[in-house]
Amino acid sequence: MPRVIFVDEGKAAEFPTGKTLLSCAEEMGVRVSHVCGGDGACGTCRIEVIDGWQNLTPPTPDETYKELEPPFRLSCQARLAGDVIVKVAKIEDAGSTKSLIPNHLLSSSGHPDRPES
Ligand code: FES
Repeated sequence: MPRVIFVDEGKAAEFPTGKTLLSCAEEMGVRVSHVCGGDGACGTCRIEVIDGWQNLTPPTPDETYKELEPPFRLSCQARLAGDVIVKVAKIEDAGSTKSLIPNHLLSSSGHPDRPES
């Protein structure tokens, strides 16, 4: 069975192929926001794939619509096909557009279009 490691939580477990990363996280006791309940609509369940991108099912239309790019996936859409190492993506404000922008793309001003001063 595929092995899932949440490096930021220091937790690892094995799950059947085809299980979503969100379900894995819940069973492992890893807290991942999932405002829409796993429907692929809210974008709050983002995880960062550290290793094993190729061991997840391809991004769904819900993910491409949200313009998520590697290393980020929606954990409710990404299903296991092999071993993965992941961590929970930080969400500063799950109710705003900003929450859909990966933190590494934000400047220190907190806005992607405003340069650092
Ligand atoms: S839980 Fe809402 S998009 Fe994954």
